[in-house]
Amino acid sequence: MDDLIQKTAEHLAAAKHVVALTGAGISVESGIPPFRGKGGLWEKFDPMEVGHIDAFMRDPEKVWRLLISEMRGVLEKARPNPGHLGLARLEALGKLKTVITQNIDGLHQLAGNRDVVEFHGNFAWLRCLDCGSREQTVAVDLSRMPPRCACGGIYRPECVFFGEGIPPMDLDRSQIAASSCDLMLVVGCSAVVQPAAFMPVIARQSGATIIEINPEPTLLTGTTSILRVPEKAGKAMKAIVAAVEHLVL
Ligand code: APR
Repeated sequence: MDDLIQKTAEHLAAAKHVVALTGAGISVESGIPPFRGKGGLWEKFDPMEVGHIDAFMRDPEKVWRLLISEMRGVLEKARPNPGHLGLARLEALGKLKTVITQNIDGLHQLAGNRDVVEFHGNFAWLRCLDCGSREQTVAVDLSRMPPRCACGGIYRPECVFFGEGIPPMDLDRSQIAASSCDLMLVVGCSAVVQPAAFMPVIARQSGATIIEINPEPTLLTGTTSILRVPEKAGKAMKAIVAAVEHLVL
């Protein structure tokens, strides 16, 4: 393990333009469950019933009740963990330029990263299905399901549901970041959901080195990534950042 941490730190110390792609795994130590694997949300819910835009449009009340209201409680309490803080430190050290995240929890921004692409949107804002006006989730009364705008329309979260495309601007920014980096860290990401999982492939094809931080192997392991630190994000990032500081400061 120490050897993999040291190798990762050496790659980071030598890199000039680092991009991170993060998934649900980086927020697990903040108390937010992942989607897949043990304890994952998709063990409890059928993603096509609660995570698909058609399901939401068919029965918004059901989706709000089942998934979204449950997530709100968890998201409100969550704070950045050493995984998020480590990425913020790498930005402060001038290494990390952009975080592409599939997470909707806003924890990278809270940790201090400034260039964050929220690939799957976020849960901090809601949008009215009728008039299109936006409101912060914390300002909306979620005791009435589904929550409604002053115009009477139903609010939806500004997350990307299954069946919806990635907003073109976010897709563009991510593709540019992926093709401009010399090192991509893929942290807590199962790499099964497209097009996010394609970003490391773009980076690799553009000549970047790909390193994963994930206790489990993924579809990228042994194909796209050159090494995987098989450890939880918080513990791994703390050790990696300390080793990078030792090398560059
Ligand atoms: N540290 C690092 N990685 C972890 C940790 C941890 N503490 N705990 C779990 N993991 C890893 C798992 O091994 C897995 O590879 O995080 C990954 C989580 O995978 P998913 O739950 O599939 O999360 P993600 O890759 O973000 O999913 C992509 O799927 O349903 C959709 O829209 C949802 O954005 C999400 C997308």
